[in-house]
Amino acid sequence: MREVTVRIHRGDDQSGAFQEFQVPVTEGMVVLDAVHYVQAHQANDLAVRWNCKAGKCGSCAAEVNGKPTLMCMTRLDRLNLDEPIVVEPMRTFPKIRDLVTDVSWNYSVNKRIKPLKPKPREADGTHRMMQMDVDRIQEFHQCIECFLCQDVCHILRNHERWDFSGPRFLVRNASLAMHPLDTEDRLPALKDEFNIGYCNITKCCSEVCPEEIKITDNAIIPLKERVAGRYYDPIGRLLQRVRGT
Ligand code: SF4
Ligand code: SF4
Ligand code: FES
Repeated sequence: MREVTVRIHRGDDQSGAFQEFQVPVTEGMVVLDAVHYVQAHQANDLAVRWNCKAGKCGSCAAEVNGKPTLMCMTRLDRLNLDEPIVVEPMRTFPKIRDLVTDVSWNYSVNKRIKPLKPKPREADGTHRMMQMDVDRIQEFHQCIECFLCQDVCHILRNHERWDFSGPRFLVRNASLAMHPLDTEDRLPALKDEFNIGYCNITKCCSEVCPEEIKITDNAIIPLKERVAGRYYDPIGRLLQRVRGT
């Protein structure tokens, strides 16, 4: 049976090193299977976070051959098995152990986003929405919170600007700001608290999203346009001043 070398990062936030393991390759195998083989046969204490093995819980996010990806959705037959497969934790977040990172910062950002503030019901007691408005935000709700987009975003990864919310939370902001019933004014927070202005639309986040959410085109750019229209468009600002808004 063919074997592949899997090079896995071991260690914690203080120290670590790569360790190599030989893993037999079977048909349909994914990287998470290889990691589980190592855990079962060669390193029982190997720490790895996973849950669904179906690309739906987001917990097996890691970097495979330098690319942020879900281990359970990365098939071995799409990788060059003549070279070692390098598996390491997401680099943007603190390591806990081996392949497990501390992603709690993301939850703290999430808590700062104001909840939906729906407009009052119609006279007949209903809330009416246009189907096209509902469809527009539907893709944002596909997010599985894997945080791969946060991992790849250079504002967080390289510049460590933790005053930037990161793409995941611009997607969540978009799902609320574009919700047909929402009345919350989200533009001040997008500009000053979540610092949408830091994003320079490199689209790296969209490229790694396993749910194929068009993060930049459908969430970030429309939000940036709204912020620019409010704060940086001189005619718009003049009209706002005249209207007293
Ligand atoms: S498009 Fe913006 S949010 Fe996405 S990775 Fe680039 S800088 Fe980060
Ligand atoms: S937007 Fe995509 S990449 Fe980002 S957390 Fe959600 S599913 Fe993951
Ligand atoms: S184990 Fe759930 S997404 Fe991979």
